[in-house]
Amino acid sequence: MVWSRLLELATAVGFILALKGLSAPKTARNGNLIGAFAALVATIAIFFSVSELKNLPLIIAAITLGVLIGYPAARKVQMTQMPQMVALFNGVGGGAAALVAVIEYLAIGEETTTLALAATVFTVLIGSVSFTGSIVTFLKLQELMTSRPVVIPLGIVITPLVALGALASAVMLIITPAQSTLFVLLGLSLLLGILFVLPVGGADVPIVISLLNAFTGLSVAASGYVLSNVLLIVAGTLVGASGTLLTQLMANAMGRPLTGTLFGAFTAKKSDGANASAENRPVKSGAPQDIAIMLGYAHKVIFVPGYGLAVAQAQSTLRELADLLIARGIEVEYAIHPVAGRMPGHMNVLLAEAQVPYEQLKEMDEINPEFPSASVALVVGANDVVNPAARSDKSAPIYGMPILDVDQAEQIVFLKRSMRPGFAGIENELLFDPKTTLLFGDAKDSLTKVVAALKAL
Ligand code: TAP
Repeated sequence: MVWSRLLELATAVGFILALKGLSAPKTARNGNLIGAFAALVATIAIFFSVSELKNLPLIIAAITLGVLIGYPAARKVQMTQMPQMVALFNGVGGGAAALVAVIEYLAIGEETTTLALAATVFTVLIGSVSFTGSIVTFLKLQELMTSRPVVIPLGIVITPLVALGALASAVMLIITPAQSTLFVLLGLSLLLGILFVLPVGGADVPIVISLLNAFTGLSVAASGYVLSNVLLIVAGTLVGASGTLLTQLMANAMGRPLTGTLFGAFTAKKSDGANASAENRPVKSGAPQDIAIMLGYAHKVIFVPGYGLAVAQAQSTLRELADLLIARGIEVEYAIHPVAGRMPGHMNVLLAEAQVPYEQLKEMDEINPEFPSASVALVVGANDVVNPAARSDKSAPIYGMPILDVDQAEQIVFLKRSMRPGFAGIENELLFDPKTTLLFGDAKDSLTKVVAALKAL
């Protein structure tokens, strides 16, 4: 039908425009809406374009169930929990693609082309890896299991063997179709997903989520071929390509190759800081009034927001502090680390919510040369992204990650609640630096007190 082809084209253009919109904070909201609308149109169009739609009650029941679970979950999720939400949704997508492929394989039997068989087998393999892999990343990020790398005994041998077994059964399935081999492939692929993700830990988990997202895209594209659905091919390819690019960008931001992220745990020495606890070393702490004086008489202040800013929801209070300082003639900038927070662009989203002008947000490369001329670096709920261990401690899980050069500022202030470490679980020497002052407490609370003290100056 011509109209359904035209709708497919319009929907594919919608997906591309959505991605374009999502690439900048100003247009991201519209991009998201365009993508959601295109997906809705694509779903509805199927009901009218397929001549003999079977199992209609089951399809409607599945959609209703999905909406009943997905809608409230997406509305309720905290922004800091987005990565695990994405992991879960992504895993379900991969699992669904694998299930569809299994059913198609059982239905098409031997009367099909080798290419169609290959696409079906590929979908089972990649979709299953993505399903169990994503479930493990969810468990890690939700802290339902340890978020540290888990290296099983002989993992370095077992994982490649399972991968080889899965590949061999996939090839066998294409050459000699057999149901029993299909279930061997399914089992090995599900196991591979678990073994693949277990050794990835801490700060690297989001990179794996992005990679699994790309996997899901590819398996959906292949399932589009199986089901002769052009839109699935287009959407899956877009997700596969953008997921691959995002994975590469995130790995670069962490300062190490992707292979290091995925397989580093097999070769890593045990980290000295792995179980960092706050030793009883002296630190300098201050009162809100001290910090207000320090800031009020500065000439240039750089704010360094991190995960704690999101937890405390202190973005508007930080903006209020910036406005007060700017009114006193003080230069204020925000230093944005690419992996600050818990998802790509987390700080940009938070600060955009507080309507911080874009020109005050500076990416890492741009802001780093400015720290030596800053009177104060105010670190609000950030830790790993300023931890000098990334430069010098080869055993640290963040070793090699470029950091914000906060230690170059004249004075450093940390706003945090305790001496606990950040996401990577390692101690931060900067907290003990003589030019560092700690203001303990919830970031919003502390900032509110600093703002009040500054107003009273
Ligand atoms: P973290 O290193 O996780 O440090 C967060 C700091 O915020 C902690 O020191 C914590 O100390 C403090 N904090 C928590 N709640 C607070 C509150 N209510 N008020 C004040 N302080 C609070 O954060 P970061 O520097 O932003 O680094 C991000 C880390 O997460 C990196 O390791 C990164 O690789 C990883 N990661 C990033 C992403 C992406 S893509 N952005 C995704 C997942 C993981 P207290 O507990 O003492 O308050």
